[in-house]
Amino acid sequence: MAKQRVLSGVQPTGNLHLGNYLGAIRNWVKGQHQYDNFFCVVDLHAITVPHNPATLSADTHAIAALYLACGIDLDCSTIFVQSHVSAHSELTWLLNCITPLNWLTDMIQFKEKAVKQGENVGVGLLDYPVLMAADILLYDADKVPVGEDQKQHIELTRDIVDRLNHQYGKPNQPILKSPAPLISTDGARIMSLTDGTRKMSKSDPSDLSRINLLDPPDVIRNKIKKCKTDPVRGLVFGDPERPECNNLLTLYMLMSGKSKQDVAAECQDMGWGQFKPLLTETTIAHLQPIQDKYKQIMDEPGYLESVLHDGRQKASEIANQTLRRVKVALGYSLPT
Ligand code: TYM
Repeated sequence: MAKQRVLSGVQPTGNLHLGNYLGAIRNWVKGQHQYDNFFCVVDLHAITVPHNPATLSADTHAIAALYLACGIDLDCSTIFVQSHVSAHSELTWLLNCITPLNWLTDMIQFKEKAVKQGENVGVGLLDYPVLMAADILLYDADKVPVGEDQKQHIELTRDIVDRLNHQYGKPNQPILKSPAPLISTDGARIMSLTDGTRKMSKSDPSDLSRINLLDPPDVIRNKIKKCKTDPVRGLVFGDPERPECNNLLTLYMLMSGKSKQDVAAECQDMGWGQFKPLLTETTIAHLQPIQDKYKQIMDEPGYLESVLHDGRQKASEIANQTLRRVKVALGYSLPT
């Protein structure tokens, strides 16, 4: 039986942080051998908020290199850049024309990000989930491994599929496949180091709020030293009054690879003075091999370009077939 297909992506806006890693990439790596995987760097999404053209290309390469450094295996996975496969933009237009406007204005992320943009909010930000739907649907993906914050966008993708199939498909002959979100129980929502009630995010103005995968040991030490805690002795999971405590214990559990029960038992009598150095050294040790591999990849001339060139070819082949299928269903005649 053919393997199920997985598609996911990350925006090249700044460095990857522990939220991206624990909510998404770590799970891509863990599950990759049971699936046929496509991982893209979503550089078209990156311009839906003001961006810096001088760094876009380098950031895109850095994210692709980090996918490899985190353990994505090219024997079962394809890595590519979204803007290299023009079918993503083209399918977005076709899907735009069947997506009701109010589905997009209802999206939580749009509302949150639009507030920050004020008068300057662009159409691209509103349309962002349709582009994400196109990313997923072009590959007939069965599963989409993401963090909790992307769940609503995958539900929207499913609604778009239903609408397209219903309006233009034939009975029992769907045009597009409905994907399912794959969200892990632990790490699906990693919180800020400076406020345990807010998500760790690339757009937080304070770099102290997140640990980036490429942060050197001294920076990690400083961030954990300064992170927000509480005055209570004894560390426990799941106390709603202690969001920072729950988040930091979760980070320790995921960075150490220990079970929740073991971490709960180990930390139940600890104070922050004892716990913080433990979390610090565990995090540094976990990230060290990723950082070493990243450097090795970036130091090898031409390697990343060749990975992305191959990825583009493989992705384009599949994406163009799906695009043709949708165009035919919508009534377009294809050029000969
Ligand atoms: P992006 O770039 O914001 O985030 C990439 C991935 O990281 C997850 N994530 C988190 N998980 C746990 N805790 C956090 N604090 C945290 N912050 C981010 C996100 O859920 C995501 O899985 N729209 C997407 C990118 C995208 C995409 C796609 C994803 C574009 N097309 C197609 C899947 C399939 C985004 O902006 O992710």
